[in-house]
Amino acid sequence: MRTQVVIIGAGPAGLVLGHLLHRAGIECVVLERHSRAHVEQRIRAGVLEHGTVELLTDLGVADRLHREGLVHTGVELLFDGVAHRIPLRELTGRAITVYGQHEVVKDLIARAGFPIRFEQGALRLRSDRAVETAEGVVEGDFVAGCDGFHGVSRPFVAGSLRVYERDYPFAWLGVLAATPPSAEELIYALSDEGFALHSMRSPTITRLYLQVAPDEKLDDWPDERIWAALQRRLAHDGFTLTEGPILEKGITAMRSFVVAPMRRGRLFLAGDAAHIVPPTGAKGLNLAVHDVKVLADGLRRFYAGGDEAGLDAYSDTCLRRVWRVQHFSWWMTSMLHLAPDADPFTRELQRSQLRYVVGSAAAATTLAENYVGLTGSP
Ligand code: FAD
Ligand code: DHB
Repeated sequence: MRTQVVIIGAGPAGLVLGHLLHRAGIECVVLERHSRAHVEQRIRAGVLEHGTVELLTDLGVADRLHREGLVHTGVELLFDGVAHRIPLRELTGRAITVYGQHEVVKDLIARAGFPIRFEQGALRLRSDRAVETAEGVVEGDFVAGCDGFHGVSRPFVAGSLRVYERDYPFAWLGVLAATPPSAEELIYALSDEGFALHSMRSPTITRLYLQVAPDEKLDDWPDERIWAALQRRLAHDGFTLTEGPILEKGITAMRSFVVAPMRRGRLFLAGDAAHIVPPTGAKGLNLAVHDVKVLADGLRRFYAGGDEAGLDAYSDTCLRRVWRVQHFSWWMTSMLHLAPDADPFTRELQRSQLRYVVGSAAAATTLAENYVGLTGSP
């Protein structure tokens, strides 16, 4: 089979790229390892930046997002037992929308006017223009590697990439609970036991996260232990955490990771295939969407008249934002987690930083503008 752009992976990056190319009249096919049901049920991110919502709206895939998504104009930071609100909209003029990543994926698949081939199993890259599947070779002018952190695209070009990485001495245990959110906004908490996050998916579903040790297993965390830890870590005046049945739970390692350049020849890496951020800043999905917007612009210029300037600038343009977001995610993570070896000096620096962020309009604005998503070329 022959097409113009072969896209590997039906996550947010691959699907948004498919929509952008289809709208520009560029032919593409998405090849996905897993089934449609699998990708539509994978519970992951929940926070969409203002710019991500705008792009999805522009693509005509945001009707349900606007109906069901929860617009948040602020977030809370809880430390030393006191919660402080960062008024995002007041400080930046913009807000975030809480809407599950799997819902975004469902909406993108439902409206796709381009082919998506699910259950492709283990794919193999033959070259930077051709992908081998169980049903034969799919050839294009370009390949977009949107296959996440564990995909096949990055290993194919690994030898020519520089890798930057950092691991953290903790992980997140995430749970989805059938109980109404206990507060209207997200609460990022640092307690003497470590980090906790109160988030949500709908008026009846709460999403919660807890810092745990990286080697801990789900079996170590029966539901009662999870609720007890959340109760302690999120406790503050006027707040009651409502418990309910846990529908889903999982442990996610935390790492910062970047490869450069994000291109070799005709193969372009986008989203988690090229970079990972720790989830504290809620940035991974948003950054993936930004990459493919830049890539689609470059491909559009190429197909409009052979102009390769956009494609040549792809990696540098993306990496500018990637590094800004890496810094923000690392900063939020360091400020809000308790490292097992944290000495009293480090703890006091964290508390001082948190007091400064909630007490200074300049510092609060720094957090807010990064959190809602910087505009322009940061
Ligand atoms: P993926 O979503 O990983 O998609 C890659 C796709 O490629 C998958 O469908 C996969 O099945 C497929 N694939 C893999 N290998 C192959 C192969 N060999 N062949 C074919 N297909 C393949 N981000 C935010 O912006 N906000 C948040 O609030 C947030 N919270 C998070 C919370 C958690 C617990 C986690 C784990 C992540 C969170 N993230 C968040 C990060 C976000 O989920 C990712 O950054 C995002 O999924 C990246 O999208 P992607 O399309 O690049 O990769
Ligand atoms: C959610 C995930 C995040 O990583 C975050 O920073 C905030 C919210 C969520 O899944 O709701």
